[in-house]
Amino acid sequence: MSTTDEPTTGADQQGIEQQRIEQRLVDEVAASFAGAQDVRLRTVLESLTRHLHAFIRDVRLTEDEWKQAIDFLTAVGHITDDRRQEFILLSDVLGASMQTIAVNNPVQDGPRGGATEATVFGPFFVEDAPLIEPGGDLAGGAAGQPCWVEGTVRDLDGTPVPGARIEVWEADDDGRYDVQYDDGRVAGRGHLFSGEDGTFRFWCVTPTPYPIPHDGPVGRLLEAAGRSPMRAAHLHFMVTAENLRTLVTHIFVEGDEQLAVGDAVFGVKDSLVQRFVQQPAGTPTPDGRDLGERSWARVQFDIVLAPAATDG
Ligand code: BEZ
Ligand code: FE
Repeated sequence: MSTTDEPTTGADQQGIEQQRIEQRLVDEVAASFAGAQDVRLRTVLESLTRHLHAFIRDVRLTEDEWKQAIDFLTAVGHITDDRRQEFILLSDVLGASMQTIAVNNPVQDGPRGGATEATVFGPFFVEDAPLIEPGGDLAGGAAGQPCWVEGTVRDLDGTPVPGARIEVWEADDDGRYDVQYDDGRVAGRGHLFSGEDGTFRFWCVTPTPYPIPHDGPVGRLLEAAGRSPMRAAHLHFMVTAENLRTLVTHIFVEGDEQLAVGDAVFGVKDSLVQRFVQQPAGTPTPDGRDLGERSWARVQFDIVLAPAATDG
């Protein structure tokens, strides 16, 4: 019986001589990086070696499984191009993206509560999205229910942050981002700036659940594992401001059934679930926009930015 709480691994069950041979290889490979000039690179490669070998020894990886893994990664590479980033998808569905975010965005408490939590970036952000004036519409013709979003950007002390750059992007009602169409459209994305009092407001479309791209190797992995490719409905934000930590996040839609079922990339945090209040057709809009017979929704999202990390 084991004398510690450590689970027994496949490696532990090998004879002493076999364990010695396997461990000697781990140590030899790790030591091969000792000459790296960059200390950080050395640390990362040595740790990667130890964890990778531990995994192979733990599951007693067969040669056939190793070949399958190589074929899988080759397929991930082959489908990746300027428009399709299957490696990010793979990182996302393995939870590696969210773990990296957790490690790099420690909980930041201030006198008025914490900074807004970060979540996964995803593959659909595009540089140079259109500038949206305060109260403007970033839907750009994307199908979906009109949705009014407003809020204030503040720092941890509660001081409003003027001039914060707010990038927003989202899928349309059919579950697709503009870049997933072949016609070059720009829709469901834009950037705007918070005003002197830190406030912002814009129109977009109410987010709905959609599947991550699942017609490639990552989709086949999900299927083999009996996992769904669906993401909970969300609106992406990236907020940058001087001397403050850049925030990459989403807001999720309270009541969305997908929240209970699970999010394919583990991106949901309770603090990011917001109430999108439904407004029946005919309800006056905040800016007097005439929506005719259409219903609309509104949501408030106040953003709190942590201080930028300082060196040392
Ligand atoms: C997204 O929300 O856009 C996304 C995130 C991770 C993988 C695929 C899509
Ligand atoms: Fe998304």
